[in-house]
Amino acid sequence: MTRLAVVNGPNLGRLGEREPTVYGAASLDEIIRALVVWGQAHGAAVEAHQSNAEGALIDFLEAGVGRLDGVALNPGALAHYGFALRDCIAALPYPVVEVHLTNVFRREPFRHRLVLAPVVAGQIAGLGPLGYRLALEALLQGGWPGPAAPSVEEEGGGRS
Ligand code: DQA
Repeated sequence: MTRLAVVNGPNLGRLGEREPTVYGAASLDEIIRALVVWGQAHGAAVEAHQSNAEGALIDFLEAGVGRLDGVALNPGALAHYGFALRDCIAALPYPVVEVHLTNVFRREPFRHRLVLAPVVAGQIAGLGPLGYRLALEALLQGGWPGPAAPSVEEEGGGRS
């Protein structure tokens, strides 16, 4: 059985009540429950973790080494400045797919810089909660093509 985790960062624990016109009406619990059910039907054990603290997210991701096969991660605003999280992901042996409920490129300029971009396997943005399921599906399927991780010289710190 493939072991996958859905990990959410700061402020995503308040989905449903947090700016529903921006992030939608579904709570994180409702979203996670649907993903667990989806996993059961597709041969994946799906677990979830949410924290408002970057260090706690790093602790969870590190503890997944040897235990998890992949992670769908919505880093919240850490996507824009979380360099400790970025360094953690760069050193993980399993793939991380970055998910954003909103299309960050249609929003404020500070959201256009994605510092995790060079170290994640791929990104999904703007598709609402469906993005989490698509990320799990990609992790379950695996085998997608992709260039090697960029060298330090090539990497300008993220998509901006
Ligand atoms: C978000 C986008 C981020 O810019 C924001 O800080 C969030 C949510 C999204 O899911 O669209 O907390 O990651």
